[in-house]
Order: sequence, then C-alpha cells, then structure tokens
Amino acid sequence: MITSSPLVASPFVMIIFGATGDLVQNKLIPALFALYKNKSLPQEFFIIGFSRREFTKEEFHNYFQEQKNDAGWKEFATHLLYQSGSFEDENGYNKLNSQLLQIDKKMGACVTRFFYLATPPDHYETILNNLVSTKLSEGCGHQGNNWTRVVIEKPFGKDLETARNLDKKLAEIFEEKQIFRVDHYLGKETVQNMLAFRFANGIFEPVWNKNLIDHVQITWAEVSGIGKRGKFFDGVGILRDVFQNHLMQLIAAVAMEQPKSFTKEDLRDARANVIGAITYANEEKPIVKGQYKGYKREKDVSPDSNTETFIATKLFINTPRFEGVPFYVRAGKKMKNNLVEISVVFIQTCHILFKEYGCPEIGNVLAFRIQPNEGIDLRFIAKTPGSKLSLQPVNMKFGYKDDFGTSGLEAYERVLLDIFAGDQMLFNRSDELESSWELITGILDKWKQEKDEIQVYDERAWGPG
Ligand code: BG6
Repeated sequence: MITSSPLVASPFVMIIFGATGDLVQNKLIPALFALYKNKSLPQEFFIIGFSRREFTKEEFHNYFQEQKNDAGWKEFATHLLYQSGSFEDENGYNKLNSQLLQIDKKMGACVTRFFYLATPPDHYETILNNLVSTKLSEGCGHQGNNWTRVVIEKPFGKDLETARNLDKKLAEIFEEKQIFRVDHYLGKETVQNMLAFRFANGIFEPVWNKNLIDHVQITWAEVSGIGKRGKFFDGVGILRDVFQNHLMQLIAAVAMEQPKSFTKEDLRDARANVIGAITYANEEKPIVKGQYKGYKREKDVSPDSNTETFIATKLFINTPRFEGVPFYVRAGKKMKNNLVEISVVFIQTCHILFKEYGCPEIGNVLAFRIQPNEGIDLRFIAKTPGSKLSLQPVNMKFGYKDDFGTSGLEAYERVLLDIFAGDQMLFNRSDELESSWELITGILDKWKQEKDEIQVYDERAWGPG
C-alpha cells in the first residue's frame, strides 16, 4: 500500500465502456487529463470512449465542459477517440476492433489494451460476453492475452451471487493478473498513510489494540445528493455504493494485522483477513437506514423508492487484536458536511491525581481525516494555563498541505497509473469482495421483505433522528 507512483513508459489504449457516464466525466477524464499535464503518461496513448450516444469524436471532446477551456485540453483531446455502440450489440464491438487494429497498424505493434468497465454492474456480463464473441478479449495476439487487461469498477456485482458469477466469468476469460477490480479508496494517499502511521511509528503500534482502544468511529459524509446518477444509485443504495467497498477498506486500514511485507499478496491477505472477521453487533437490527427528504423526486428515481441514502451500524472485528471493540460506522448523502474521517478513541480513565479536579470525558483521540483537509490530529489532555488546576483536551495537528505542501495524487490518478504499470497492489482480490458481500447480502434480502416506509431525514442533518 505504501508505494511510489510507477512510471508509465509504454504506449497503451484504454477503452472506456460507459464513456458518457458520471464516473468518466467527474473522475476518469479529469484524472487522465491531470496525469497528461503532469507528463505522467507516455508519448503515445489512446483513449476510446464507448457508449450508446451517437457522438462524433469532436462532440465527445466537447462533452467535457469543465476541462475543455483548460490549457492543454486541445492537445490532450487528440488522444481521445470515440466509438458509439450499444453494449448488447456486437456491431459496435466490431467497429471498435477496427479502430484498435488501425492503432496497432499506426504504431507498428500490438498496443496494450485496457478495457475499463465504467458502467453500472448490470452491464458487466453483457460487455464481457461481447468481448469474447468478437475476440476482443484475446488482444491482438502478440504475446497471448497478457497485453489485454480488464478493469472493473465497483460495485463488483449486486450481491454475493452476482459477485461470484462475475468472478467466474472473468476467470473464464482472463488470468488473474489481467484483472483490476477498482476501489479508488485504496488509491487515496490518506488511506495508504494509515499503515505507515501504524507500523512506522513505534509509539503507536503497542497501543493499537482492545486493551487501550475504547471504540472506533468512521464517518463518510457528503453534502451533495445523488445528482444526475439517479438511475445508477436507485438500484444500488449507499450500502452497495460505498459501504460494501470504500468503508470496508477504511475498516481494513484501521484493523488489519501487520502484513508480512508490502507486496501485493501479503497486503491483500491482511485486508481479506479483517473483512472476513467483521460481524454486526446487533444481529436483529444490524443497520439503521434512512433516505434524504426529496430523494424520491430526484431525476430517474422511482417515486416510491425505498433506497437508502444513509446507513449507520455498529460492528465488531473478531480478531485477537480488536475483539470486543465497537466500530461505529455511518455513511450518508446530503449530510451536514463533506467529511471522511476515522477516529480512534482511546480508553479514558481519570488518574487518581486529578480525580478531585475532574477529567474530560474523552481524552486521547487519533483522528485520520481522509478528506477534506487531509491530515491527522491527536487529541490529548493539557493543563489549562493559570493557578487553578484544570484539564482540557487540545490537539496536535499534521496536515498534508502544511507539512508536505501537497496532498498527493488524486485517488483516480494513482489508480490509473497502477493499472497502466500492471501493479495490482491497490486493487481488490475476489476473497476480500466475497467477504464484504457476505456481510451485506443478508441485509439486502431482509430489506427486500420489509414493507415499512424508509425513515426520511432532513438535508444537512446527520441521518434520521
Ligand atoms: C464513488 C461513489 O465510488 O465514490 C459516489 O459511487 C461517491 O457515490 C464517490 O460520491 C466519492 O468519492 P470521493 O473520492 O470523492 O470520496
């Protein structure tokens, strides 16, 4: 997890399925453009957007309103191609094949191909089937299919069964080293830094356990709602959108054992062991859910939707290190602030010396701010100045911008660089995903049976009251 950004020297072509979707507009193209401006991309590269819309190449370029007036965009856009086609129909794939062959011809070699599935998960199987039937999955044969890679966005499936089926399908077509299962939270600098913090600082590792930690709180909050993503989000909900993936990675970063080494498999083992050890504190009512006021009126949302935009839960991690320590996890859209934060709250006792003067109820807290204002705060107790003996909590602060002058690469920039370099360390292995699906599939089944209307919460609140 603690690795430097790789250098990408070889030419590549990335085919993005779902190229007019929100993810591409908000994350992938901005990240590719930023990498281009930083000169992190090779001299020769090609990005082909594949989508239903009948766009010309120029119309596709103009689709990226936010970037198109930026210096450098015109030059970057010369690398940006387009192929319209429906995911179901081989026609578009055959045309795509012709574009790819032209690129190989121009380059005089078989150029590495990345098929990036940035669509909602229900399209994955269709796309994979068509990649096989049109032989696109085989690459152009130069060195077997090692030159072809497939990148799958989260959520990886819709439940345990679909995730397993998807894995089976992928395994039939590709070797494991060709498959990149994306969770961009693994690419976040602040998430990677948690392991450095825990294992490189001898003073923290000895206290990182149930003997000294009282509880852990993880908050994932966004002020915005679902925006233009109604179609996707209404079929998914926040449980599958962020809890099954991003929040699992945050839990793993806090609770994993020391990996044997910073190599792909050791890190994946350490993550998988934690995720496999998670249980709900309350089996009867494992998760509280809510929906923000006005959600049902959002574009492409069903007017009687019961989809959750907020969840809160109390979990345990059944490992010798964390057994019995509650993890309070909440995630929501239309919350009061934009905040992704992990607070590790240590057991507070009032020392005999201070009993008669009173101690703060909460003493030592380590807060990891994943975003915004990336950094770490350590709260400790200090004597307030003056002749009277009284105690008060204060903060020691580390901020990426203050201390390093930068908060590092944006997560998708990092993820893309690793994909191009063929480094799978910051990508999920299927057992990690299976464990997290196991944890939530029972909940999804339960929710399907529920007849009650979902609880509604006000915008800018912290979920249902
Ligand atoms: C995506 C979710 O994976 O992550 C979105 O689908 C969410 O709902 C986004 O808004 C948040 O990403 P970040 O990097 O801005 O925290």
